[in-house]
Amino acid sequence: MHGATTAPMDRLQIVTVPQLRLPSFAEDVAAGLSANPKRLNSKYFYDAVGSALFDAITQLPEYYLTRAETDVLREWGWEIVRALGNPVEFIELGSGSATKTRLLIEETLRVQRTLRYSPIDISAEALRAAAGSLVDTYPALRVSGYVGDYFSILDTPHLQRTDKVLVMFMGSNIGNYEPADAVVLLRKVAAMLKPGDGLLLGADLKKDRRELLLAYDDPAGVTAAFNKNLLARINRELGGDFDVKTFEHVVEYGEERGGVHSYLAATSEQSVNVGAAGLQLHFEPGDRIHTESAYKYTAQNIAEMAGSAGLNVARSWTDSAGRFSVNLLVRAS
Ligand code: AVJ
Repeated sequence: MHGATTAPMDRLQIVTVPQLRLPSFAEDVAAGLSANPKRLNSKYFYDAVGSALFDAITQLPEYYLTRAETDVLREWGWEIVRALGNPVEFIELGSGSATKTRLLIEETLRVQRTLRYSPIDISAEALRAAAGSLVDTYPALRVSGYVGDYFSILDTPHLQRTDKVLVMFMGSNIGNYEPADAVVLLRKVAAMLKPGDGLLLGADLKKDRRELLLAYDDPAGVTAAFNKNLLARINRELGGDFDVKTFEHVVEYGEERGGVHSYLAATSEQSVNVGAAGLQLHFEPGDRIHTESAYKYTAQNIAEMAGSAGLNVARSWTDSAGRFSVNLLVRAS
């Protein structure tokens, strides 16, 4: 076939992108818990404990999202990787462990001899582990990883590209953005797409409220533990003294806007100090902290969101049960 393969190390490059300083965890906690209503950004769920709890969530019978998206990629991956034409290269925003991406890499390597994959992730450890394992597994794959915040990396000229690009933003991570912020992010991606490029967007679909509420409030309490880990993390990293067991996990579905909203609610009156954030807080029973919104979409919602960002939905694929969608967006001409 094609000569000797290159050693894995020679096919791997990791760039740490210098960027404007982002607010620290302490600064975000100070601002969010001083605000009214109180809030914490869901990106802080994912320390080592929280990432392990999220992996456990993806195995829960009630949390259908990961399985449904995997079903789409298994069933339609062949069509997805051919949709833009080949050769294509991948850029993935928030790649994490890149487990599902392997399905698309394998499909692509059936129709082109080599592939460049450029994952962007805020976690250097996750990026290194995923990238190292990928170049070991696939001799025809080159990985150019970027450590940093994808919002800022998209703004810089750091990203190298030669082929037609498929940008991937999977797992319904878009759902954690307020609808207006989601459009801002998609516009940023749209600005880097050339004609012929595409954005592959994984988006969870609106469905029966009971099914949604169970997915975010499982009977085994894994999601509750995932949510409460935010307070435990504040205790560990910022010298907080939250009595975690006096907070409960509360989930609501706002049908009109399609958001599943998660909160931590105090079950007793209490005072809390967070040393490194300079906070002295008082909670009455029932006082809440908003910790996450996970928005759900109809096909029309996705088309409208894309349209507001200057993109068109070229193709959509769903799992056979119609729970989850993977959408190919291209620049509107
Ligand atoms: C990783 C953001 C897609 O919103 O479904 C899982 C995170 N939160 N259970 C989601 C999550 C509660 C998840 N995302």
